[in-house]
Amino acid sequence: MGEEVRVEGLTKSFGRQLIWQDVTLTLPPGEISVLLGPSGTGKSVFLKSLVGLLKPDRGRILVRDVDLVRCSERHLYQSRKLFGVLFQDGALFGSMNLYDNIAFPLREHTKKSERVIRQIVFEKMEMVGLLGAEGKLPGEISGGMRKRAGLARALVLDPEIILFDEPDSGLDPVRVAYLNQLIVDLNAQTDATFLIVTHDIGTARTVPDNLGLLFRRHLVMFGSRELLLTSDEPVIRQFLNGRKEGPIGMAEEKDAAQLEAELAATASAPTTGAATAKIDEHTGLVPDAGPVGSMGGDAVPPQLEPSGGLPERRAIRRRQLRLAGTLHTLPPKAQQAVRAVLPPELLAGVAGSPDRGSADPRPYWLDGPSTGAAGAHK
Ligand SMILES: Nc1ncnc2c1ncn2[C@@H]1O[C@H](COP(=O)(O)OP(=O)(O)O)[C@@H](O)[C@H]1O
Ligand SMILES: [Mg+2]
Repeated sequence: MGEEVRVEGLTKSFGRQLIWQDVTLTLPPGEISVLLGPSGTGKSVFLKSLVGLLKPDRGRILVRDVDLVRCSERHLYQSRKLFGVLFQDGALFGSMNLYDNIAFPLREHTKKSERVIRQIVFEKMEMVGLLGAEGKLPGEISGGMRKRAGLARALVLDPEIILFDEPDSGLDPVRVAYLNQLIVDLNAQTDATFLIVTHDIGTARTVPDNLGLLFRRHLVMFGSRELLLTSDEPVIRQFLNGRKEGPIGMAEEKDAAQLEAELAATASAPTTGAATAKIDEHTGLVPDAGPVGSMGGDAVPPQLEPSGGLPERRAIRRRQLRLAGTLHTLPPKAQQAVRAVLPPELLAGVAGSPDRGSADPRPYWLDGPSTGAAGAHK
């Protein structure tokens, strides 16, 4: 099972430029989380802080009870081995072929023989669909292949936590769809904890278990996909629906005057105006735009599942237990969306469900010592 990552009150600035402050979130073990945010809000800085490449000013990053912000160099070195990172551009060495690029971390960080290294490199290349391309140089292959090569390299040390920095940027929609399927399949195969930074709304709406949004130096919200996809918070609605209208402007942030003018225009426009024209009034979905609900609307679209033949993601069950335990803390619309994904035996135990009195203070799955509901795995 992947590692839990707990971030508490994290703050980072460069000199006098504050990037973000008081970021608090938990990446649940083995789950897929997506971090959204306008460009320049410090998403890459956040990923680099998690792996210790940048030093936050304040706060804690807890992995296996080690605080990566304050631990010794030796502990940091050990903890880093838990992470695999796919950097924005793949970050491959241009003069090395794919085989040597992917083998690099193994040669650098382990004492494995070339025979064993070869086995691992081919295994990971197969996982990302790159077998046969091992002799190619990064400059000779497509952007999509470079990303997959970067991913194979991120996988060779069998990380418990994998960070993806805009894995889908610069790819056409078909390649994005393939890459998203690959990410979900890898999660099913590894059960590692995933954090994906992306701009792609379809990815954000259909891939992760959890979503977060960085905006104006704050983490606006972080939580289960059902919570954010049903949120009434204007910034979140704008981002998850890809609308022009809202607090987020083209150049990162709009000025207040422009925002006010837009809000006034939206208020006076009929409800079937441009901003909502594409959304079906009854379903809340945008018709004919990829997978159901992938591009916008109020509804929570189905989550992408692993390809046929692969095992179910183990995080799904853990997440269901966690959500059942915290269901009562969610707003009504999110509760409704979560109920739709909880299996009957868990729903039966949730306070307030019709088939079990809401007076029962203690759901049955909390009675036993071994289940992981509501953070009991810590
Ligand atoms: N090493 C650095 N030194 C100084 N400023 C930096 C450094 N890295 C990033 N920044 C600044 O931090 C801000 C956020 O950058 P970044 O994390 O790359 O944004 P995002 O990934 O969300 O687009 C930018 O203003 C960038 O100039
Ligand atoms: Mg970035």
